[in-house]
Amino acid sequence: MRRAAPEVLATARSQRWDPAEVIRILLEEEIKGRDEATRRNHRWLAQLPSGKTFDSWRETDSSIPAPTQHALMTLEWISRAENLAVDRPSGTGKSHLAEALANKAIDEGMKVCWFTLESLTARLGRATVAKAVAKITRCDLIIIDDIGMLPSGQAAAEAFYRVIDAAYERRSVIVTSNLHPSASTRSCPGHWPPPPSTGSFTTRTSSSPKAPACG
Ligand SMILES: Nc1ncnc2c1ncn2[C@@H]1O[C@H](COP(=O)(O)OP(=O)(O)OP(=O)(O)O)[C@@H](O)[C@H]1O
Ligand SMILES: [Mg+2]
Repeated sequence: MRRAAPEVLATARSQRWDPAEVIRILLEEEIKGRDEATRRNHRWLAQLPSGKTFDSWRETDSSIPAPTQHALMTLEWISRAENLAVDRPSGTGKSHLAEALANKAIDEGMKVCWFTLESLTARLGRATVAKAVAKITRCDLIIIDDIGMLPSGQAAAEAFYRVIDAAYERRSVIVTSNLHPSASTRSCPGHWPPPPSTGSFTTRTSSSPKAPACG
């Protein structure tokens, strides 16, 4: 508003605007400025890894059916606190899709948290766990990228399930992995919250997930 005010007031004076109209325009500028600042802050907080968006996404290169991609892009599933699990081989665009969705969510004013399993485990290891989980679940969308890339242990399993459990039916979570969930016996954590069907979908989990024993 501070930036727009001199010009708006000068125009208002020269064109004899109704004072109510001047206030309406100045308030609109103020709201626009605040929304932009919030988005900038959310983008900085999310620490997205590479800046990928849907601008560079090629729909036809993805094996995810186009109608599913379109449904995901609406972000309506986030308002329903549904989850997205993407299990596809390496290099097939899982992280790109997750980041593009994250950027779109930020554009629409949502708060996003981006983790790998390693960074999530480190975050929960550094702070009081309950506090860290509460802070993470203030995000509208939580992304845990590349599960299964590296072998993980009990601490990672616990961090994963703490967050999944806390987010259950309250927040949306995107999990990406190059492992099919049925490979979970070889890698821990691997018992994904939603059962796999098409490999890319949104769902409510049918019951609160329980952490598996790893190690
Ligand atoms: N449908 C697509 N449209 C545009 N670029 C794509 C698409 N699929 C993959 N790419 C590009 O291919 C590269 C690899 O994609 P990405 O890193 O997202 O794969 P990934 O499935 O997450 O792999 P990994 O399992 O190794 O993490 C990236 O540069 C990404 O931008
Ligand atoms: Mg990836």
